[in-house]
This record gives sequence, C-alpha cells and structure tokens, in this order.
Amino acid sequence: MRSRLQSDGIWRVSTPPGGARDVPRIGQPFVRSILAALPLQLTEILAMAKIGLFFGTSTGNTRKVAKMIKKRFDSDTMADPVNINRVSPEDFAAYPLLILGSPTMGDGQLPGLGSECEEESWQEALERLADVDLSGKTVALYGLGDQVSYGHEFLDAMIEIYDFVIDRGARVVGAWPTDGYDFTVSQAIVDDKFVGLALDLDNQADQTEARLQAWLKQIAPDFGLSV
Ligand SMILES: Cc1cc2nc3c(=O)[nH]c(=O)nc-3n(C[C@H](O)[C@H](O)[C@H](O)COP(=O)(O)O)c2cc1C
Repeated sequence: MRSRLQSDGIWRVSTPPGGARDVPRIGQPFVRSILAALPLQLTEILAMAKIGLFFGTSTGNTRKVAKMIKKRFDSDTMADPVNINRVSPEDFAAYPLLILGSPTMGDGQLPGLGSECEEESWQEALERLADVDLSGKTVALYGLGDQVSYGHEFLDAMIEIYDFVIDRGARVVGAWPTDGYDFTVSQAIVDDKFVGLALDLDNQADQTEARLQAWLKQIAPDFGLSV
C-alpha cells in the first residue's frame, strides 16, 4: 500500500490491486470538517466559555462589578456579563459554572418591578427560570448592599438566589466572612458566613477591588481559574 498527501489535505491511499481511495488526514482540516457537520447548537456549546456571568441591577453598580470580574479573564474562560433581564432558561442552564450578582433593593428584596425598580430584573427572571435543572453545576454569588442605610436588611436578596439555585440542585461556593462590615441583621448568612461575596459600594467602595481579588482566589479551584 502506498499513500501520498494531496494539496487539498486529503491522503490518497493506493491499495493494489483494488485501486485508490481517499481518507481524510487527521489534523485541523479533519477536525473542522467534523465540527461543521455537527448541529449548530452543539458547536456553539463546544466553543462556549465555561463560566456564565449574569447580573441584575437597578442603578448600575452590580454591572460595574461584573465588568471588573470579567476583565480579569479571557473569553475562553468567562463569557461577557449579561443582564439577567434578557436571559432565557436555555442560556442560563448552558454553563457548568455560574457567577451571579445582585443588589438588594426595596425592603430587602431582589431588584425588579416588585421592588420599584424601573426595569425587570431578578424577580421576574427567577419566575422565568423556575424549571431549570442546575444539578451538577457550581454557582458563586456576589451581592451589593448598603450596610449604613439598610443595616437591618443588609444584602438580604442574596439569600433568594442562593435558595433558588440550591433548590434546583446546584452547589454554591464562595461563602464570605462577615468581619469588616457593620450591620444589624442580614438574611444572607448561613453558618455564620454570607452565602456569597458581600460588597458595599455606597460605604466601602475602596475595599471592592481587594475583596474581589480575595474572593476570586477563594473560588479559583472550583472554577478552574488562575488568579
Ligand atoms: C430604593 C433602594 C432600596 C435599597 N434597599 C436595600 C436593602 O434593603 N438592603 C441593602 O443592603 N441595600 C439596599 N439598597 C442599596 C443598594 O443595594 C446598593 O446601593 C447597590 O449598590 C445598588 O446596586 P445597583 O446599582 O446594581 O442597583 C437599596 C438602595 C435603594 C436605592
């Protein structure tokens, strides 16, 4: 048997006495042709980042923090941040790893029309996403609040997202110590820790960068991050 590489990347194999047949060369053109033959959805998933980053916001702070997180990582690692008000159940469930951010609004509530925000947000999203299955997924939460003006319901909304994802089978990582904050009550505490990163851009904005860095380092092993 003799073989010869042609200019189109195909090996022509001569098999005496039965003539010749074409077999694909194992290499990039071959892989590309396999990918091209797959359904679009699957190729999109193969090309997708592993970490989805979704946020809700009323006045923009939680979006700003999402951008601070994303700018540390390339697009193969983390998707661009997306406002939860335009996320479908399929988008949400497509990632094995999720970072979810929310402020607390109203009286210790998630942002949304029910807490007098101007736009839909997490309140409406959790209804829309009610049937998602998050088993096998890992989730990390970050929450924004104001410990001075709302010290009796500091970061309360974070517990609603925590309960939501736990109820649907996710594992939550990234619990955060309560040291360094001055508040009266928070519903977002489980086993003496906040269920996610606690940020207060109204009173402790200068600590945001350091807290983010420490938290990303903490979740790095679970999220496959190099921080
Ligand atoms: C009307 C209103 C209600 C708020 N209620 C709470 C609250 O109950 N608990 C809390 O910790 N922070 C509360 N905050 C503070 C916000 O969570 C904080 O300002 C946050 O940074 C806003 O994030 P955003 O810009 O992404 O909407 C409230 C702020 C406003 C304007």
